[in-house]
Amino acid sequence: MTQKKSATGSAASNEYVTLTDHTTGENYDFPLMPGSTGPKVIDVRSLYGQTGHFTYDPGYTSTGACESQITYIDGEEGVLMHRGYRIEELAEQSDFMEVCYLLLNGELPNKAEKEDFESTITNHTMVHEQLSYFFRGFRRDAHPMAIMVAVVGALSAFYHDSLDVNDERQRMITSHRLIAKVPTIAAMAYKFSVGQPFVYPRNDLTYAENFLHMMFAVPAEEYKVDPVLAKAMDRILILHADHEQNASTSTVRLAGSTGANPFASISAGISSLWGPAHGGANEAVLAMLDQIGSVDKISEFVEKAKDPDDEFRLMGFGHRVYKNYDPRAKVMQQSCHEVLDALGIRDEPLLKLAMELERLALEDDYFVSKKLFPNVDFYSGIILKAMNFPTSMFTVLFAVARTVGWISQWKEMIEDPTAKLGRPRQLYTGPTERPFVPVSKR
Ligand code: CMC
Repeated sequence: MTQKKSATGSAASNEYVTLTDHTTGENYDFPLMPGSTGPKVIDVRSLYGQTGHFTYDPGYTSTGACESQITYIDGEEGVLMHRGYRIEELAEQSDFMEVCYLLLNGELPNKAEKEDFESTITNHTMVHEQLSYFFRGFRRDAHPMAIMVAVVGALSAFYHDSLDVNDERQRMITSHRLIAKVPTIAAMAYKFSVGQPFVYPRNDLTYAENFLHMMFAVPAEEYKVDPVLAKAMDRILILHADHEQNASTSTVRLAGSTGANPFASISAGISSLWGPAHGGANEAVLAMLDQIGSVDKISEFVEKAKDPDDEFRLMGFGHRVYKNYDPRAKVMQQSCHEVLDALGIRDEPLLKLAMELERLALEDDYFVSKKLFPNVDFYSGIILKAMNFPTSMFTVLFAVARTVGWISQWKEMIEDPTAKLGRPRQLYTGPTERPFVPVSKR
């Protein structure tokens, strides 16, 4: 493939990439589309029409599926920005409600806008009372992610007044409802699993405080939210709020591209997040640390992770996009130390184990040469454990935080005039046409 400048360029850029089909000797030009930063993309929308061929890219490692103005990642440099703001700055100086507003609306809110947004979210935190009966249908030992998939999807059976995806106002109401109600549902899933009564949201608390309150308060005594934990919770939410076109976000976009309602689309995203290669990794990190057990066993497990014949991988290491330190992992590591210090559990053996594992892996040629660095999930599990969250809730917390990213991406897609039904093609390698043989003759 060669690159040349064309005098007849596209509206976006005058640059083209030429594809030569060596079987026919034909040349085909494809426009290069520039972003505001980052690599240009080759616009192959006319590829099939021009050449009769599709592209082949399982795992979408070289495919841009949409245009987006929300989140930018430079995986080589370890940069993550939302609407142009670095994640480190947002984690340090902003709060989750501001980040939600930013992701949804494109700009940071002024004081009045922020107050108005917070009040709107606060006033949508209760769920329809009828929804609470759903929980009784689950086994007591149901994984809370299973409950999340079902109950968030079921919201579409309750809020008929905001399901019209073509109505801008309804889209915004649904976005607010999802951001507000997902933590309530998450906390209910937890309460159900431990046999405690559901705790209703409280409007005098911040988003993070309210979530901790719904999770850990019981009617028998007063629950005071620890400000250090509330701050850490808020930061965890910020760090997970959005991450460009990852598997769950792409799932939300794909489901939403059919015109499916946003509650159903987000429920699809929650399913996609569940897997250990994605949001399930924070839960898997703790299971792995438990499995390793002690510092002297680390090198044995590092060797297992390097063995191509062994399925074991170091959970919390590696990333499809980051080939450098995940910037979220750095902030998370710092938060982790702050939380453990504040709780007076500095000597937490799991943290010691995690830090030693990180040190050994970062010195190991295998991990260095493959650019496998700790990702956001490596430390989040340890903080969440210290905050008393059971491991089964870790991925649920990821879903609570990512809801704003999913809904912002969904909204952007619905409002994009160039967006189309998502419908990938394939390379067919199955049998070619053959005559049907009746069962009596098989
Ligand atoms: N431990 C050991 N080897 C690894 C690991 C790991 N954690 N991750 C990747 N590799 C190796 C892999 O075996 C492969 O080696 P080779 O080239 O010899 O076949 C090479 O590195 C590239 O891996 P890949 O699986 O082709 O890369 P990918 O981009 O498809 O996978 C990943 C990305 C995140 C699924 C993978 O790194 C992984 O399984 N990590 C552990 C799970 C994890 O921590 N997931 C959380 C991701 S961050 C949270 C989120 O955004 O959802």
